[in-house]
Amino acid sequence: MEVSNYSEYYLIRRLMTSLRHYHLTTYLHSIRVARLTYLVSKKLGLPKDEQIYNCKGGLLHDIGKVLVPISILDKPGLLTELEYEFMKVHPSYGSEMLKIFPTLRDLIPAVLYHHERLDGSGYPFGVSIIPLSAQIIGICDSFDAMTTKRPYNEKRLKSIHEAIFELKTQPYKYNYNIVEALEKAIKEEKGNQ
Ligand SMILES: [Fe+2]
Repeated sequence: MEVSNYSEYYLIRRLMTSLRHYHLTTYLHSIRVARLTYLVSKKLGLPKDEQIYNCKGGLLHDIGKVLVPISILDKPGLLTELEYEFMKVHPSYGSEMLKIFPTLRDLIPAVLYHHERLDGSGYPFGVSIIPLSAQIIGICDSFDAMTTKRPYNEKRLKSIHEAIFELKTQPYKYNYNIVEALEKAIKEEKGNQ
């Protein structure tokens, strides 16, 4: 199936509305990640079109979760091995969904690779060469997961400082320059409040 006669703006809105209705927690997380991704892209001095591209990728990075059962998304505590395997497919689901819409296909790398890590420990492929957009989204995603309450994360929330420290001390997983840009963007924002 291919749907080609809708604008990118319309499609992103429709997909985000579906996500909001399906799972509000993931929707709100995606909005925060998109915002952070935009700020970090700006801080890194990326061209305007890349800032916008990364922001759109941030919005849609977890869209594949609309195909993951709510019982898994909302499960308190640890997931079983099988449930975790299901959860790990969401970047691929997201990518398959975007393939349907030619105007959204260029966002596939940002969505498909956002859980990959530089040391190859991520998923779904375990690759270590990761598009910059997906690296930025992945770092903002991890930061938000550490600092915001989620149903399946019963661990104590980390402060901004603790979360940045955790990301900075794993340069083999997370691009240090991006983490630094995130830190600066957050500090700057706090200073302006
Ligand atoms: Fe994700």
